[in-house]
Amino acid sequence: MTNAHPQRFPVQLLGSTTENRVQYFRDCLIEHANQQECLARAMSAIYSACGPRIVQVVGPTGAGKSTLSRKIYQALLEQYRDLINMDPGAVPVAILDAIAPNGSSFNWKDFYIRLLEKHGDILTNRKMLVPRQHDLFEGLSAPLPLERTTTEALRRTSEKCLKYRKTKVLIIDEAHHVLMVNDPKRLEFQFEALKSLTIESNVVIVLVGTYKLLAIRDQSGQLVRRSEIVHFPRYNLRQKEDCQNFLNALIELERQLPLPVMPNLHAKVRYFFLKSGGSIGILKDWLSRCLEHAILRGMRTFDAKFAEEFALSNKSLITILDEAIEGEIALEDASLDEVKAVNQRAILTTCQR
Ligand SMILES: Nc1ncnc2c1ncn2[C@@H]1O[C@H](COP(=O)(O)OP(=O)(O)O)[C@@H](O)[C@H]1O
Ligand SMILES: [Mg+2]
Repeated sequence: MTNAHPQRFPVQLLGSTTENRVQYFRDCLIEHANQQECLARAMSAIYSACGPRIVQVVGPTGAGKSTLSRKIYQALLEQYRDLINMDPGAVPVAILDAIAPNGSSFNWKDFYIRLLEKHGDILTNRKMLVPRQHDLFEGLSAPLPLERTTTEALRRTSEKCLKYRKTKVLIIDEAHHVLMVNDPKRLEFQFEALKSLTIESNVVIVLVGTYKLLAIRDQSGQLVRRSEIVHFPRYNLRQKEDCQNFLNALIELERQLPLPVMPNLHAKVRYFFLKSGGSIGILKDWLSRCLEHAILRGMRTFDAKFAEEFALSNKSLITILDEAIEGEIALEDASLDEVKAVNQRAILTTCQR
């Protein structure tokens, strides 16, 4: 253990069970530069009074987006503390996950039900439009598209509920699931539903998800006008500042490993950088596995050689990195020449008419 970086975990943990020690490490949060910076930018986008109504936080898997969304939630709760104290019925900020569709398209009905439950609505399962009278008599007509009407009713109730509960910010994590549809034509409906939610209830929606969310920017001009994108990137080995920030994060994580002797992993920082793809999530999961096995084997510490055994396979890393790089490229803006080319095309089409 070096004096410059004393251990951070409560020392009693060393006498605790393997499970408790590993859980402590899994739960511990450190401050790391990209997350801090992204938090500041997301908060500023949310606050800008007459600004966009949709803030999209995008980044690769494992960057720490879900953790960030909970930090945003906590920061906003703090911000609205007075409002909550004055009006206990108010829900100024809400957070929920967009659940991955079960085979087909994203399930709005389920989403609205969970949103209403978050707001304390206990009658969500009873919300549906009254069937037309002839549907009440067997065999008289084709069945009503009940699913659709129920979703519509839930949508309207959700929008009203957000208004009455004075909700100002709605955070949707794993929001790329909203865009998962079995028919590409349905995407437009997904955009409409988001637009309706923000306009009708006047909330700022924070969509947190992978780069797949960029489809909104690329395909819905109407939502683009109302959105701002906040990038939460991985650490990039080619950037000097990122190397330093990754090193700091690795040291902070080392200090949280409840072992009698603090591992000196940062001596091999490049190796850890490479084998985690610059992702704090991948790094932390990896170190958790090392910790568990080190404790089970009765070791007092572990080193990079030991960690090798528990690292992700290179093939898995390549898949993750490919996806991240593809997202980073998609995020790059088009050139002004491309804008000019589109204008030129428009002029030509007009002349040919
Ligand atoms: N600031 C942080 N400090 C420590 N661990 C973190 C931090 N942010 C994220 N993690 C860990 O990294 C892993 C992935 O984080 P998560 O927020 O789920 O990422 P994402 O949503 O981008 O996939 C989780 O195990 C989480 O606990
Ligand atoms: Mg996540």
